[in-house]
Amino acid sequence: MKIKLLKDYEELSSLVANIVETQIKEQPLSKLVLPTGSTPLGLYDELVKRELDWSLVIAFNLDEYIMNIDHPYSYHSYMRKNLFDRINIYPDNCHFPFRPTLSFEDKMNVIKGIDLCILGIGSNGHIAFNEPGSAFDSRTRVVDLTEQTIKDNSKYFDSIDDVPKQAITMGLGTIMESKKIILMANGKHKLNILKVAMNGEVTEDVPASILQKHNDVEVFYCD
Ligand code: F6R
Repeated sequence: MKIKLLKDYEELSSLVANIVETQIKEQPLSKLVLPTGSTPLGLYDELVKRELDWSLVIAFNLDEYIMNIDHPYSYHSYMRKNLFDRINIYPDNCHFPFRPTLSFEDKMNVIKGIDLCILGIGSNGHIAFNEPGSAFDSRTRVVDLTEQTIKDNSKYFDSIDDVPKQAITMGLGTIMESKKIILMANGKHKLNILKVAMNGEVTEDVPASILQKHNDVEVFYCD
């Protein structure tokens, strides 16, 4: 698979913002899947600047920790702070995986499913919180986070002991049903896993490698 190399983080954020902008303008009632983490922060800033009309958009987040959703480090809080409170999306149209997980999937699929899914990639090749070993046909479910992910995400918490050990994540099968997928990665530490995932063997040991089987994926990287 082709990995498009971009000049810098600004270009990465702006190029993916162009794709989201086109999607929302062409189809105001779009259903989007959105990531958290450090990678999409520039994208969200860029989208806010563009003052798009989000009034008909329905957003689904990829994952959420098993924790109090009002906690400042929850993904609910992250999304409110970095995007939802800065645009005219309706709070009722912002969804996060919840239990029962099959009801969450039903909600995603009411009227034609997901139009555009934006992903980041973890240093162990995870997408959403589908850690290595996740089944390619997995659905939204509760998962245990690996030591590596807990370590990587501890930078967002006061201490590593505060990082939740479990999360609810969309499954790989769920993600693969999106009509279009964009994978964003930045930083030299992501390049190797990105190459392995996009051009190596398609294996459940590297969850992102399943994207090689999707017919509309674009992968953008900057160091
Ligand atoms: C978060 C998510 C994760 C992150 C990945 C990369 O919603 O789905 O898979 O995309 O862990 O995180 P950052 O961007 O912080 O390197």
